Amino acid sequence: MYNEATHHNEIDLDKIDINAAPPTEEPERQYYFMAKCREWVKDFEQKNDRLPKACVTTFGCQMNARDSEKLEGILRKVGYEITEDERADFVLFNTCTVRDNANQRVYGRLGELKGSKRRNPNMKIALCGCMMQEPSVIEKIRTSYRFVDLIFGTHNLYKFAELLATCLAQTGYGEAGMIIDIWEGTDRIVEDLPVERKYPFKSGINIMFGCNNFCSYCIVPYVRGRERSREPKEILREIEKLVADGVVEVMLLGQNVNSYGKNLEEPITFAQLLQEVEQIEGLKRIRFMTSHPKDLSDELIQVMKESKKICRHLHLPLQAGSTRILEAMNRRYTKEQYLALAEKIRREIPDMAITTDIIVGFPGETPEDVEETIDVIRRVKYDNAFTFIYSKRTGTPAAAMEQVPEDVVKAGFDKVLKTVQDTAREQVARYQGRVFDVLVEEVNENDANLVTGRMSNNTLVHFPGGAELIGQIVDVSLDECHGFYYMGHMINRAT
Ligand code: SAH
Ligand code: SF4
Ligand code: F3S
Repeated sequence: MYNEATHHNEIDLDKIDINAAPPTEEPERQYYFMAKCREWVKDFEQKNDRLPKACVTTFGCQMNARDSEKLEGILRKVGYEITEDERADFVLFNTCTVRDNANQRVYGRLGELKGSKRRNPNMKIALCGCMMQEPSVIEKIRTSYRFVDLIFGTHNLYKFAELLATCLAQTGYGEAGMIIDIWEGTDRIVEDLPVERKYPFKSGINIMFGCNNFCSYCIVPYVRGRERSREPKEILREIEKLVADGVVEVMLLGQNVNSYGKNLEEPITFAQLLQEVEQIEGLKRIRFMTSHPKDLSDELIQVMKESKKICRHLHLPLQAGSTRILEAMNRRYTKEQYLALAEKIRREIPDMAITTDIIVGFPGETPEDVEETIDVIRRVKYDNAFTFIYSKRTGTPAAAMEQVPEDVVKAGFDKVLKTVQDTAREQVARYQGRVFDVLVEEVNENDANLVTGRMSNNTLVHFPGGAELIGQIVDVSLDECHGFYYMGHMINRAT
């Protein structure tokens, strides 16, 4: 764990007067409550002769992962020791609800926590994130998981310090002590709160929040709210600080980065933002996620083509290959438009890896529609594709449509998955024998003589080396392709 707060946020909590009234401005108000939590932590340390421990468990996407880094940043700032052990004194689940199995996992893990809390009644359990924005979930937790202490949502995440202070001040067990604070939406973006990032050398950066697309199967717009972009100067300032702190690769995050900047007072395109990020000295790699095909501009393709830093990887979710299904999904592109776009990208930037998301079993999808999806997979030749079985989300338009029988979905899913695996294997194998720059991320989990890194196009590579290479970009020759990853050897240091 690596603490950004110590560098770009030197506010000393011990200098804040917690007997004064709380400030009304943000982020000052949150620092005031962090100071309050800090007092609680000191008291805990005195009584127990150790620091309290906190564990944040993340479900879901990169955006949730970045949110968890913010939550951990605050916990660390107030004095908690961060652990991955869920028997900690404060356990927080940052939840996802994009598919029902994400919800089921949270309930399962929550059940396991009940026993830990029985053994340690002082333990505090908190839930936040997308799943908490659903009223039916809150109802279920209130009735069946009464040992939960604190619940908040996606819109008031910036208020975590304030909620934590209230939670810590409260004693007692069960529903009487449960704090629930859920907002329906917000326009607010609070800057300059502490962040604790997982890797010293790479980081995610939110460039926008929410989504306006309302794809008919998707719950994200309902739980994350309307699309809002951060000011470019705030994004650039954050990246500059990260780079000064040792970061060489950033991932710009948004549900649809291609519509970045449209709602700003001084509108700017995503391609223009990328050009500014490119200028940051010391930054070596730029990634972004996710690109909606309907908004991918020629300007962006040109900027990517000319860039030395933008990685050769584009995640371009297809969802379905049949134009009829795409229309029912409200994706706003046809099969032909998607294929033409992929072709244009391949023509302009031949070494670009394209990856995708696919849903099988959307209401009304026939085996013939699935064949259209398979046709697109064969033509585009993805380096990787995440294939999902459609999951009915209450409140979305697709939930009211006629659902496809399970056995039909299963047959289609298996077929799509097989095609994806076959074409991806072929596609990844095309790099064999070539030399690529690789950012070393970690010592290999299974073999301590190997390190693991990623090529610009996101392909994983393992090669002999030691921990001193972590965070460095080195040239690696790709010797053997093993399906989705390579074994290689280092040629020299690229930087
Ligand atoms: N904003 C991104 C996707 C975010 S959700 C985009 O538009 O590309 C990540 C993926 O989850 C989606 O691309 C989609 O493939 C999948 N997904 C979303 N809702 C789903 C549902 N109800 N059932 C199955 N998969 C779903
Ligand atoms: Fe969901 Fe569509 Fe928005 Fe992606 S673009 S988050 S799939 S509504
Ligand atoms: Fe899940 Fe929320 Fe991300 S629903 S996929 S964690 S935006």
